Amino acid sequence: MDTKLSVNINKIATIRNSRGGTTPDLIKVALDCERFGAQGITVHPRPDERHIRYKDVYDLKPLLKTEFNIEGNPKEDKFVALVLANKPAQVTLVPDSLGQITSDHGWDTLANKDYLSEIISRFKNAGIRTSVFVNPDVKMIEGALSTGTDRIELYTEAYAKHFSVDRDAAVEPYVIASKCAMDLGLGVNAGHDLSLENLKYFATHVAGLLEVSIGHALISDALYYGLENTIQLYLRELK
Ligand code: PXP
Repeated sequence: MDTKLSVNINKIATIRNSRGGTTPDLIKVALDCERFGAQGITVHPRPDERHIRYKDVYDLKPLLKTEFNIEGNPKEDKFVALVLANKPAQVTLVPDSLGQITSDHGWDTLANKDYLSEIISRFKNAGIRTSVFVNPDVKMIEGALSTGTDRIELYTEAYAKHFSVDRDAAVEPYVIASKCAMDLGLGVNAGHDLSLENLKYFATHVAGLLEVSIGHALISDALYYGLENTIQLYLRELK
């Protein structure tokens, strides 16, 4: 298993914004995550800037040493401009809507094929690796291939939800989805509701998993274990 951990720092921005000041210092947290072993930093700016602000992206980009992953909906022109101006290692395209609390579905890659193909080629021409957020559905993964994307990100909420009930059944669609993606030559990332409880089982069963991006559970665990220990604990699950 050689899965990279990308820490999603949206929640740090949420805490900062709740008081309107600069505490906690988002840049320091991102650099510390890297120092503590994270192999990537993920941000998901939304148009209302309720957590990550567009300015945060410009501030982070020149300082990060690991893989910078920017997630968001490319149907927002402002998002596309932000990504092209900052040229992260990876852009993850997510079909979220305005005001949505968090991402809750993957792309319909068949219905959006033309649109995704066009936007993906713009990002790829700028030297940015692309990933498309999808449910673990073979049809959607086959559709993703025809958009020209480099990778898919499997939406893991359903896995996390059913993990405690029946972990074998919970992981099965992801095992099939990732095998399908690998057979088609697509790289596989995953994210959403992954945690210290469910991560190892996922990573050991889903072959070829290149990267997980984790925010909510990791930052919550850091309240108890501290950020440095927490990152070590997550990395240990991926070894
Ligand atoms: N991947 C995507 C596309 C997301 O939108 C999010 C949440 O912003 C995550 C991964 C991380 O999810 P979580 O915060 O539950 O770890």
